[in-house]
Amino acid sequence: MQTEIVKNMENKRVILVTGGCGFIGANFVHLLQRYRPTWRVVNLDALTYAGNLRNLQAISEGERYRFVHGDICDQPLVNALLAEEGVDTVVHFAAESHVDKSITGPGEFIRTNVTGTFTLLEAARRHWLGGEWPGRKPCFLHVSTDEVYGSLGPSGLFTETTPYDPRSPYSASKASSDHLARAYFHTYGLPVRITNCSNNYGPYQFPEKLIPLVLNNALHGRPLPVYGDGRNVRDWLYVQDHCEAIVEVLEKGRDGESYNIGGNNEKENIEVVTLLCDLLDEKVGLAPSGRPRRSLITFVRDRLGHDRRYAIDAGKIRAELGWEPKMDFARGMELTIDWYLANPEWVAEIVNGAYRDYYEAMYSH
Ligand code: NAD
Ligand code: TYD
Repeated sequence: MQTEIVKNMENKRVILVTGGCGFIGANFVHLLQRYRPTWRVVNLDALTYAGNLRNLQAISEGERYRFVHGDICDQPLVNALLAEEGVDTVVHFAAESHVDKSITGPGEFIRTNVTGTFTLLEAARRHWLGGEWPGRKPCFLHVSTDEVYGSLGPSGLFTETTPYDPRSPYSASKASSDHLARAYFHTYGLPVRITNCSNNYGPYQFPEKLIPLVLNNALHGRPLPVYGDGRNVRDWLYVQDHCEAIVEVLEKGRDGESYNIGGNNEKENIEVVTLLCDLLDEKVGLAPSGRPRRSLITFVRDRLGHDRRYAIDAGKIRAELGWEPKMDFARGMELTIDWYLANPEWVAEIVNGAYRDYYEAMYSH
């Protein structure tokens, strides 16, 4: 069964998207602009190093979209936004999201991912419970990760009932926020839904994560760092498929439920890196050294506590909501490479820091 979100138009929502200037949030805001023209999006983003206003520069402020520069830990701000906008839906992406950073500096992960989620849940509880919502049904969708389930051996898949076993500060902070979200459903009856998704790839991904980092280094003939033996396995999903799954969960999911989202697409890291090298060689010619880009692969010291394998059983969301991934991996990688090749200034501005100036340029007057 193929999902067709285009056909399932809902009338109206006022939706608070947190972290809409990041990778998945920006793709989600673009998707809503296309497929849900009657929804109003309020994007609350602190513009940390991972937030980039350029990701949404094509979208104008107005009836359908408002950007608010602010922190999800700011309780008065979040309370006021929910009230003044009449927010009936929260899609919560904002997070510190990079495992390596969580190893060197876990504090910010606890603040944003745990306290920030708590702050949003509190605001939703105050604003929604006991109120009248004629014709509308509030929903708090917490966007989470498969990493909360821990690490798999060579076989087996994560299901929604797999016990939580997070092993990095990042995944522990996400697990904590999942538990808080679930507790607000059971304790207060807050209409909470949780999605646990596998590794995403696609346009606008910050070049600290494996695929955009390797792509950028490979383009410039720099070494391609592969941790450990390169045989750790991730399940890769094209970001637009993830965003469509989120719309399905919003519109057809059940309160208090978790939904695993995955690409059914397990790959060893070394396979991903070699595929990227080969596709780039085909598209732009060999590395500046004149050699195939595979020659740039450099095995480096392993990540501390590196989870060996993640793999998702996405049977529940397929059976209940009719969602399944549409994008084939080779095609998705090609589209991703084409996007980065077509937007060299996007990465260049991140590298030279100019992307941080967009707020001043767009909002200071
Ligand atoms: P990202 O790092 O690209 O973007 C995070 C965004 O949140 C940025 O725009 C940043 O400015 C904003 N932000 C950070 N702290 C904030 C704060 N205190 N207040 C307001 N805004 C703040 O992240 P991403 O890769 O787009 O991930 C989005 C969500 O999806 C995260 O919750 C992540 O855990 C989850 N997730 C990501 C993946 C993946 O592969 N990237 C997979 C599964 C789940
Ligand atoms: P990453 O994109 O950081 O996502 P996550 O850690 O959330 O899965 O990493 C994906 C995999 O690639 C992971 O097994 C770590 C590995 N990796 C490298 O081998 N080299 C790198 O430079 C990076 C950033 C990641």
